[in-house]
Amino acid sequence: GSTGILHGKKVVVTAGGTIERIDPVRYITNDSSGKMGFAIAKAAKQLGADVHLIAAHTDEAPPEGIRAERVESAQDMYEAVQRVFDTSDIVVKAAAVADYRPAEAATSKIKKRGDTMTLDLVKTTDILESLGRQKTTQFLIGFAAETDTVEQFAREKLKRKNCDLIVANDVTQEGAGFGTDTNSVHIFDAEGLVLQLPVMSKEEVALRLLTLAAERLTGRLS
Ligand code: PMT
Repeated sequence: GSTGILHGKKVVVTAGGTIERIDPVRYITNDSSGKMGFAIAKAAKQLGADVHLIAAHTDEAPPEGIRAERVESAQDMYEAVQRVFDTSDIVVKAAAVADYRPAEAATSKIKKRGDTMTLDLVKTTDILESLGRQKTTQFLIGFAAETDTVEQFAREKLKRKNCDLIVANDVTQEGAGFGTDTNSVHIFDAEGLVLQLPVMSKEEVALRLLTLAAERLTGRLS
């Protein structure tokens, strides 16, 4: 059995969609439900890891026996991950992080005025890319949510963000991606395709992914 293969390992998982404030009552977010990330956190615990879950917007209940930290924005998530990165063995970035946020969050509710309004957006910090630059011994797993040219975009992201593995999901595919209880993924390393999984529960995807990561981590250490 694979029970215990992550014993003694610290696994950090990010989940959910970040919330980028426009004003005190409005925000920008995305369709991430947090299910994929929560499934990974639970699978990591099941495999014996010491798990730290960092969750942005989600309706999922905090999993029992897992340290779960709630964050709101990409910036909050960046800071939370930074605090634990040094001491982690595996980091899984399943969260859907906003690429842009409002340049300024208004401190009071924005009033309705003209027929159109423009919102200035600025880039957020790319958390995964910055972890990729900092990493020493950490095993870094990124996700890529794509609607087309899945393999090429995923592999470009893996290189640019210096990940050990990237999990690509074609979010236009039935039963895969945002909000569903199932997913279908292609997992790549720098060399190419490592594992291709048909539609299965997010729990099963999580177990397969972490088993692969554990094997690679062990292989590296011996
Ligand atoms: O939450 P669910 O409803 O279960 O849906 C699961 C999922 C579709 C959200 C998940 O499987 C997934 O694909 N997560 C990544 C979504 C995403 O933001 O992909 P991306 O291609 O935009 O980003 C690539 C990677 O960089 C991701 O690991 C992301 O966490 C990371 N990133 C992106 C932007 C940013 N500013 N910082 C980041 O770290």
